[in-house]
Amino acid sequence: MAKLISVGKSPTNYQVTILDKAISKKDLLPAIKTYQKILIVSDQGIPKKYIKEIKTLIPKSKKVFLYILPAGEKSKSLKSFNSILEELANLKFDRTDCLIALGGGMVGDISGFVASSYLRGIDFIQIPTSLLSQVDSSVGGKTAINISQGKNLVGAFYNPKKVLISINYLKSLTEKEYRSGLGEVIKYAFILNRKLYKILSSNPKLVLSRNTKILEDIIYESIKTKANIVSKDEREQGVRALLNFGHTFGHAIEAKNNYKNISHGEAVVLGMVIASKVSYLEGLINEKEYREIKLLITSMGLDIDYKKYKYEDLKPYLMNDKKVALGKLNLILLKKIGGAFKTNSFKVSNLKKAFNN
Ligand SMILES: NC(=O)c1ccc[n+]([C@@H]2O[C@H](COP(=O)([O-])OP(=O)(O)OC[C@H]3O[C@@H](n4cnc5c(N)ncnc54)[C@H](O)[C@@H]3O)[C@@H](O)[C@H]2O)c1
Repeated sequence: MAKLISVGKSPTNYQVTILDKAISKKDLLPAIKTYQKILIVSDQGIPKKYIKEIKTLIPKSKKVFLYILPAGEKSKSLKSFNSILEELANLKFDRTDCLIALGGGMVGDISGFVASSYLRGIDFIQIPTSLLSQVDSSVGGKTAINISQGKNLVGAFYNPKKVLISINYLKSLTEKEYRSGLGEVIKYAFILNRKLYKILSSNPKLVLSRNTKILEDIIYESIKTKANIVSKDEREQGVRALLNFGHTFGHAIEAKNNYKNISHGEAVVLGMVIASKVSYLEGLINEKEYREIKLLITSMGLDIDYKKYKYEDLKPYLMNDKKVALGKLNLILLKKIGGAFKTNSFKVSNLKKAFNN
């Protein structure tokens, strides 16, 4: 049975559908019925059969075009942005037409940004294929590209018209990409969703073997949490900050590594462990809870060892973070598993101590 979640505020709200099987005509047609032309944007790493399957669902009366980017973060560029725009203009797309983003977060982010700016905005539909894009990037309306000065520096808040998720896509995902998505799932459990924490901690083997029923439950719970937050704060002015749990430390770790050797997902997971340790040292959570947090992360096959990072090494990057307001670092800490909050009143000595592990 399909599961549905509503996201956002009227008039730009949209529905996310989670399917435990392949997307069928019945799922796609209502979302595309008004469009004359459709451009499917995808990347070379997405199995071709997924693209073919979506194409065959679209009625012959509509014109379907394909734009395939090279796989990888490098394609989230001004150059690709420009060439997709030119393709739309050459194909004479107008506001009665739409884009379908079929791929991971890279494809979703650039397609959404193109959709937000072509003709001052045309419709787009997200069909996310990686776990990270299903539970995170396809929901919330953030679109972006990278420039040489930094990641996601150019973009727009622009909601899709529909998000269609099929769990089937996750079967072909590499182990590394799958675990990177699990990092975000765990984050939702820690910050707000105790039920999700229980599902994950009681079924690590089923999660790791990508059991359909468990995936359906964890994707549903993750999106429910993200939808709840972003619907309250569409433009990131308040509660949305909770989604940055682990990110301040994670970004510092990525920067320290020159964005090599460690993935964003792996760095954020280490960041969550550090933020949990600070929460423990601040007396917000107890030792047992801190141990449970680490246990859940390791049971998902993710690394918790941040020994090689010293406070002094990360400090310059921490203080460079977007979350530094008036010289004070803002952190997302836990007061329990399933309860996060934003604060800048913590002891710097505890921050330093967190690195003496
Ligand atoms: N907009 C947001 O709110 C938001 C949130 C988090 C992350 N992001 C962005 O998302 C991007 C990361 O997303 P990602 O982790 O999906 O990376 P990605 O889109 O680069 O995909 C990772 C790799 O997996 C492959 N892939 C995707 N689905 C597959 C499938 N079903 N089977 C086999 N291979 C598949 C891709 O071809 C690619 O090689 C980053 O650019 C990040 O900035 C955006």
